[in-house]
Amino acid sequence: MIIKKSEFTISSPTVSRCPNDNKPEYAFIGRSNVGKSSLINMLCNHKGLAKTSSKPGKTLLINHFIINNEWYLVDLPGYGYAKNSKTMRNKLEQMIAQYILQRKQLVNVFVLIDIRHEQQLIDREFIDWLGESKVPFSIIFTKADKISGGRAKSNALLWMKNLEDRWTELPPYFVTSSESKEGRDAVLDYIEEINHSLKAPAGEI
Ligand code: GTP
Ligand code: MG
Repeated sequence: MIIKKSEFTISSPTVSRCPNDNKPEYAFIGRSNVGKSSLINMLCNHKGLAKTSSKPGKTLLINHFIINNEWYLVDLPGYGYAKNSKTMRNKLEQMIAQYILQRKQLVNVFVLIDIRHEQQLIDREFIDWLGESKVPFSIIFTKADKISGGRAKSNALLWMKNLEDRWTELPPYFVTSSESKEGRDAVLDYIEEINHSLKAPAGEI
């Protein structure tokens, strides 16, 4: 898929304040600092579109970016930033949960995982919750440039295999790097496929 145009639309503090033009949207979620905002910029080839920072806790609202005037990418705050106060963490978690459960336009959630680390409980609990809530999601491994190609592949495979202790059907996954742009075409093609299936008449994909 070619991204011809990517523009910031709005930052919303609650799901009820999000855009209401009924365009399909794809949200990016994961631990604080995992690389959600950087990935959106990489996918759009648009530096500075989403705000990034080397310090965790940069994104604090629901941010909509309109792509090719047709669909949205949504940058969400990270979960689990230990230095945030408990009240702040609860507030962000509530914002994220309400958005994910209530947003009708949301067609897929991308859960971002730092490829360098073993499966962490907080990510696993989040994924189990998505599965139980029947929310369609996929996994994106980030920062693949920080380890060798062989290790990136085996880390990702092992991470996915660990899900088999509870889930029989595993979600699609992608290995990416916002530095090298690895995985860009695969993620964009996947989005294009879903967009296409949404337009197809019932029964035809
Ligand atoms: P919050 O909004 O705070 O939850 O963080 P975020 O998940 O949006 O992360 P962000 O995109 O701001 O990136 C965090 C840091 O990781 C920044 O210093 C980025 O430059 C760096 N980073 C993100 N993706 C990559 C990547 O693929 N490779 C490398 N080497 N660094 C990355
Ligand atoms: Mg961010």
